[in-house]
Amino acid sequence: MKALCWYGTGDVRVEEVPEPVIENGRDAIIRITSTAICGSDLHLYNGYMPTMEKGDVLGHENMGEVVEIGSDVKNLKVGDRVVIPFNMACGNCFFCNKELFSLCDNSNPNAEMAKKMMGHSPSGLFGYSHLLGGFAGGQAEYLRVPYADVGPLVLPADVPDEKLLFLSDIFPTGYMAAENCGIEDGDTVAIWGCGPVAQFAIKSAWMLGAGRVIAIDNVLERLELAAASSAETINFDDVDVFDALMEMTDGRGPDRCIDCVGCEAHAGGTLDGTLDALNTSIFLATDRPHVLRQTIMSCRKGGTISIPGVYIGYGDKIPIGAAMNKGLTIKQGQTHTHKYMPMLLEKIVSGEIDPSFVITHELPLDDAPQAYGMFKDKKDGCIKVVLKP
Ligand SMILES: NC(=O)c1ccc[n+]([C@@H]2O[C@H](COP(=O)([O-])OP(=O)(O)OC[C@H]3O[C@@H](n4cnc5c(N)ncnc54)[C@H](O)[C@@H]3O)[C@@H](O)[C@H]2O)c1
Ligand SMILES: [Zn+2]
Ligand SMILES: [Zn+2]
Repeated sequence: MKALCWYGTGDVRVEEVPEPVIENGRDAIIRITSTAICGSDLHLYNGYMPTMEKGDVLGHENMGEVVEIGSDVKNLKVGDRVVIPFNMACGNCFFCNKELFSLCDNSNPNAEMAKKMMGHSPSGLFGYSHLLGGFAGGQAEYLRVPYADVGPLVLPADVPDEKLLFLSDIFPTGYMAAENCGIEDGDTVAIWGCGPVAQFAIKSAWMLGAGRVIAIDNVLERLELAAASSAETINFDDVDVFDALMEMTDGRGPDRCIDCVGCEAHAGGTLDGTLDALNTSIFLATDRPHVLRQTIMSCRKGGTISIPGVYIGYGDKIPIGAAMNKGLTIKQGQTHTHKYMPMLLEKIVSGEIDPSFVITHELPLDDAPQAYGMFKDKKDGCIKVVLKP
């Protein structure tokens, strides 16, 4: 079959690879009908994620049709149309029982490697390094889905892929990001980044009772899309973000701050950005936490910071003293996708939201290498790419 394979920084190729087969009674094989490129894939494409190997198949935002099931899978049948959460969960460990699915104790076969770096291992992920399981992703014609008796959600036939695909990741991620900041009615919520995750965080902040949403980026079409969701916007090329936020909130700062940027923040010519560039180039740090610093400095005293943006290893000069003395709450994590999918599907079916609003490009899988370059460089107004194998 055809699949998109990683070969190194800026080097992904569509190649012929063996079709996946059932390896375990709890597996299913899915014929992919739609798969998307995520900002998280850029951390692989840009070479920030360790333990990638040449030939690894990428893609964790997947949906399709069930073509084969293992003997223990009773909830699916061949022909079902499903969307697949980007993380894998066993459904019955300590963490799964608490609905903390992205922390599943059983789904990462390379847990020992992750424990050395983090103390404990998070769940396995599709197409996201050997540290997180070494599982093939779904930017391919077929995908093996482990724990298929727990993850895939069966979908209604009459709703198009474009409205359902983002249940696999970015809609639940934006929703959990907003939920994690504990929005109280009327709160001002500031959101760093206007990428796809941030666009869903904006919509979700409104759903959860925000009174004002302020969105920050420097890409004009992304700022415009945020404004179309009734966010006020700040272009960080034009103004100092801290000063602008203080001016907009009478000096108090936003009640809730969401970092939808993560480890690869742009920091222009700032002092901390220059230090980050130096530190990461000589392996003294892996992450560039410019946005995290800004959220901590800007958030109002006693406020909350939510971090859906991915951080990988070690960040430098994170102002923990400001966070402590201002009494901030910080919540973060990979999304517990399984927990949110059924509830968010209802919002789509009822017409409360149409997630396809973020799609700017729909392309054949063969065009994936060019699509990665375009998405990375934000060329041609690219906000979200859907690939059709
Ligand atoms: N927690 C999870 O489970 C989860 C799931 C999906 C994605 N993510 C992460 O969320 C983040 C966003 O994903 P995406 O798909 O929207 O990515 P994206 O790369 O399309 O968007 C990131 C946006 O941040 C903007 N940006 C860069 N520097 C900035 C700064 N200093 N201030 C404000 N904005 C800045 C960029 O211009 C871009 O528009 C990534 O780190 C991704 O890995 C996490
Ligand atoms: Zn993703
Ligand atoms: Zn589990």
